[in-house]
This record gives sequence, C-alpha cells and structure tokens, in this order.
Amino acid sequence: MNEGPLSIAVPKGRILKALAPLFSRAGLDVGPLLADDRRLVRDDAAGRLRYVFLKPDDVPTYVEYGAVDLGIAGRDTLLEKKADLYTPLDLGIGRCRLAVAGPRGKPAPDVPRVATKYPRIAADFFAKKGIQAEVIPVSGSVELAPLVGLSDLIVDVVETGKTLEENDLEVIETVAEVSTMLIANRAAYKLRAAEIRPLCEALGKAVAEAA
Ligand code: PRP
Ligand code: MG
Repeated sequence: MNEGPLSIAVPKGRILKALAPLFSRAGLDVGPLLADDRRLVRDDAAGRLRYVFLKPDDVPTYVEYGAVDLGIAGRDTLLEKKADLYTPLDLGIGRCRLAVAGPRGKPAPDVPRVATKYPRIAADFFAKKGIQAEVIPVSGSVELAPLVGLSDLIVDVVETGKTLEENDLEVIETVAEVSTMLIANRAAYKLRAAEIRPLCEALGKAVAEAA
C-alpha cells in the first residue's frame, strides 16, 4: 500500500461528472477519469495517482481493507456500511437527502413495511423513534414498492423530488443530509500523509472555490 501511485476509488456513474471539474480545479490529471474505456485501474500521466473504478456501494469496503488508499463515497453509503475510515473532506457535490416517503396523503400503519436500499439506516431510524417497522431490502426503483403493495413506506435518496412527484409519493421526514465525501484508509492516511495532505488541501481549495 505504501509504494507506487496513491490510489483512489471512484464510483462509476453519475457522480463522476461532478467530480471531474473539482479534481481538475485541484490540479489533478482527470484524463484517465473521463476516458471512455473499460479499464478498471487507470494511472494519471505522472504515475502519481491511480484511479480504481468501483460500484458506489463497494468503495468503503476497498478503502477500509486498505486495498485502495482513498475513495469517493456518498454519506448515505457511509452511514449504511459503517466502515472504519477517515472522512477528511466534504466535497460539496452529490447533495441530496435520505428521506422517508409514502403515498401522498395516506397515513402509514402503526407497524409499517419499509422498502429500501438502506436497510440498516432505515432500521436504526425507526428503532430510535420507537416504531416497530418491517424493513424490506430492495436494490433499486424503490419508489415502485408502495405503488404495487410491497411496502407502506420507503427510505430513499431524494434529490430533485421528481421521482417521488411522478409516482404520487411525498416526503414524510428527512433521515439525513447527504453529500459526497473523500474517505481514507486509516493506515494509509498516516503512512502516506506526505502525499495525502497536499491532495486534501488542493481539493479543499477547489471545493471552497466552487461554493
Ligand atoms: C435515485 C434515487 C431516487 C432518485 C432521486 O435513483 O434512488 O430514486 O434517484 O432523484 P430525484 O429526487 O431527483 O428524482 P436512481 O435513478 O439512481 O435509480 P435506482 O434507485 O433504481 O438505482
Ligand atoms: Mg431510485
């Protein structure tokens, strides 16, 4: 872990579009980040930074185990995974919230069934409120669940609110505010501090400029 380029796990998908300009402002070579190919490991031109492409949910796992030094992960994923990591910087992108939602104007039963991609967050949330909920894990299109009677409620990410709106659902309560975080393996953060600190500083400045 302590030799070769510093590695950073980046989530495949829509957050890359917001990440690239931020990395570019921080002086990083984003060519490999934007390259349209199927390679999962891509080094920058200087051979200092290695991008590793992962499914968003797997980023905390690779970083916690030290297979990758740094990573980019949403606060939602971090809350759900509860990985043992450092989170040195809020990147200020990917802003959204996790919310409980249900059919517009329809009160939920006392023991609601709750469909979600975030079973742990949902279970904790209802337990803390003293509500005995039955959490039903699903892996996407969560808004469908109450429409076809799989669940009474959902816990899911709300960004613009369009998906809820178009499926006759409404937010009942916010569970957590979400944004994209820089995460670091605990050992790497110490052993490779000479490389990680300046990177964090440059990214911090780029975030401040964007705000
Ligand atoms: C995400 C999320 C919500 C929606 C929120 O779904 O799970 O469904 O986007 O965005 P909005 O408030 O702007 O409508 P995504 O499109 O990633 O699909 P998936 O849940 O099926 O993975
Ligand atoms: Mg969705």
